[in-house]
Amino acid sequence: MKEKIRAQRGTKDILPNEEYKWNFLKKVFESTAKSYNFKIIKTPVFEATELFNRSVGETTDIVQKEMYTFKDKGGRSLTLRPEGTAGVVRAILEHGLCNFMLPLKVYYLDTFYRYEKPQSGRYREFFQFGCELFGSNLSEADAEVMHFAFKILDELSLANYIELKVNSVGCSRCKKKYFHALHEYFELKKSALCQMCLERLQKNPARILDCKSQQCENISLNAPITLDYLCNECYQHFESVKDKLKNLKLKYTVDPKIVRGLDYYTRTVFELVDNSLGAQKTVCGGGRYDNLVKEMGGRDLPALGFGLGVNRLLLALENHNIKIKKDDNLDLYIINVQEDLRSCAVVFCRVLRENFISCECDLLGRSLKAQLKYADRICARFVLVLGSEELEKKEADLKNLKTREIKKISLKKYEFATQIIKILK
Ligand code: HAM
Repeated sequence: MKEKIRAQRGTKDILPNEEYKWNFLKKVFESTAKSYNFKIIKTPVFEATELFNRSVGETTDIVQKEMYTFKDKGGRSLTLRPEGTAGVVRAILEHGLCNFMLPLKVYYLDTFYRYEKPQSGRYREFFQFGCELFGSNLSEADAEVMHFAFKILDELSLANYIELKVNSVGCSRCKKKYFHALHEYFELKKSALCQMCLERLQKNPARILDCKSQQCENISLNAPITLDYLCNECYQHFESVKDKLKNLKLKYTVDPKIVRGLDYYTRTVFELVDNSLGAQKTVCGGGRYDNLVKEMGGRDLPALGFGLGVNRLLLALENHNIKIKKDDNLDLYIINVQEDLRSCAVVFCRVLRENFISCECDLLGRSLKAQLKYADRICARFVLVLGSEELEKKEADLKNLKTREIKKISLKKYEFATQIIKILK
């Protein structure tokens, strides 16, 4: 026997029996996005590597260690998107979207790729629901975006388990001062830093704060915090953001340790955390990136957004025993009592499908008993039993498998579908 090829480490198949969960989440994402007037944007799975180097940052873990980068047959360096913001910024610039109506509000539900060490809640292919808002530097926009993320969790009954943590990393001037302070701090602890962090110290000391080595983590505990380096404007902006969160009755804590693992952030950064998830407890991360559009060749355009990890969301639902209702029951299974009636059942199915009724009939040549068992196993709501007597009389029994109630249905051309729709709806 030939060896079976398995799914790659850190990737997961989504199987048909999980469809109802994904359908439900998609509905929650879409309806919540609609209520905040965000519109969908779809960008390609791969982009020029340069896009991520320039936006996410050359010294970040994502760019240095985690990107799936390859050369295509034309010799171009391409990368599977590790995150969504860069591609969205590229697309809005390419299509001049920010030259029209502002604010521009977009969302996406896509897969992303990072070569990370897989563990619970951390995969190499994962799903994110994300949103980006362009054109506003007002603190109301920060509060609205955080409220949007929180509302999704609320819709999923997760709000009570989630903590909103906020911080401000300041503008580029504040960041410069802060990085200088960090550099000075870590320079003194240099001898205890790991090899990787010694390089980070030279290129971007803030990235030492992301280091997972226990020793570097311990050193980082007493490192300077961004809030002590905010200029007056950034300080006022952060105060105002907190006020707006209070207005919206959104509970938060200020966590000066949040700096986020991507370089483009300015001012507000935030995370939604579920402590039940252990090491990978951040369900959602986001913030402002007021300089990115300009740095990517556009005009000065403030922006902000978030990415919500859908795989982690599913884990959180499981941890808190929040059940998603199955909605994928088949409306109707048509049972053909005799084998020669199979083609008849197929025609009845066609008529019903034209009326958007989900239905099936036997495709495996099963016995009557086996067909009944199958209908039960797939949780069909109704079964219709078709025999030659029924065809002759032009009337058949429609049975509700839950209540066991039976109703007579006309098999006449113009009555059949109408009568079934009436009962099923
Ligand atoms: P991020 O913090 O890198 O931000 O990712 C956002 C969320 O995606 C995380 O909080 C987590 O739930 C999920 N996530 C990240 N990596 C993995 C992984 N390997 N496996 C499973 N889930 C993961 C961004 O990606 C930014 N683009 C968010 C953003 C949008 N900021 C502004 N706009």
